[in-house]
Amino acid sequence: MSQFGTEFCDQFAIVRFEDGEWQAPALQALEPLQLHPAAHVLHYASTCFEGFKAYRWSDGKARIYRLEDHIARMQKSAASLRLPVPDADMLADMVIGLVRAHVADIPAPPSSLYLRPTLIGTLANIGAAASPSTEATLFVLASPVGDYFAGGARPLKLLIEDQRSRSTEQLGSTKTGGNYAAALGPTLDAKAQYGVDQVLFCPNGDVQETGAANFLLFNDEEVITKPLDSTFLHGMTRASVLSLAADLGYRINEREFTVDELLAWSTDYEAALSGTAACLTPVGAFIYGGKEIPVRDGAAGPNVEKLRSALQAIQYGDAPDTHGWLTEV
Ligand SMILES: Cc1ncc(COP(=O)(O)O)c(C=O)c1O
Repeated sequence: MSQFGTEFCDQFAIVRFEDGEWQAPALQALEPLQLHPAAHVLHYASTCFEGFKAYRWSDGKARIYRLEDHIARMQKSAASLRLPVPDADMLADMVIGLVRAHVADIPAPPSSLYLRPTLIGTLANIGAAASPSTEATLFVLASPVGDYFAGGARPLKLLIEDQRSRSTEQLGSTKTGGNYAAALGPTLDAKAQYGVDQVLFCPNGDVQETGAANFLLFNDEEVITKPLDSTFLHGMTRASVLSLAADLGYRINEREFTVDELLAWSTDYEAALSGTAACLTPVGAFIYGGKEIPVRDGAAGPNVEKLRSALQAIQYGDAPDTHGWLTEV
């Protein structure tokens, strides 16, 4: 299968917000958007998006993972950018209609259909830096994606960045393009300089997240991760892993922790990144102060493996959906 995010179904769902209301959504051929060059999004970054997956089970039907929760997160992102907030039922119908039309395009698990609702401010006004876009377009792309771990789950290496932030305090939990733009330079620099996979952003020592995934620690009894606040994205995979870990008897320890604490724990605790694309990926080493610090023995640990398998079993239809996370299409 082609590289993640480069292959698309030949249709997308689209709706415009004009004259103060959402118009009728359409499922149509995937084609370039017509945008005025003065569109608000092109100048003032009024954009947010979501990312989640649908799986095709052996019964031939698709299941969308945590649809309502992702829509709620998108509504929160839109509101924080003062964009028109998509109606939840309208957006759910757009996603479901798109998935229904393309069930046959969904490769079998562990592959899936990645869904990307995107909202952009389209008001043609380059004088609107300090006012909201009162016109917008919402569309949903569907992209068949392969197994992230084809070839094996190699533990990742992370640079610990203890000064710079991935985002700003007010937009950290908003899924908006500017945050990815902010993380790109530091991440590329770290890859070039240290050969790492990602940067773990820990401004002033506060361990937050990487450019596109949350960060968690595990031992046989406990899961440690930062409690929800406005500085980082509230990942659905993080939330799911915490729920499953609680079901399995782990203690859930949502607490702030520092780089010094993280490094002290890394001799005993497993570390992992969580996100829709890669589920739960083990972290094998950190780079900090120019030194490489292994996480335990550097290999993938059993607790990360156990929780990843538990989540994927639900997604792939191999275990009951006890939390009601799946929408059947
Ligand atoms: C910055 C950031 N953090 C965390 C995540 C993980 O979120 P989720 O588990 O909802 O995919 C993502 C997206 O995948 C992200 O872009």
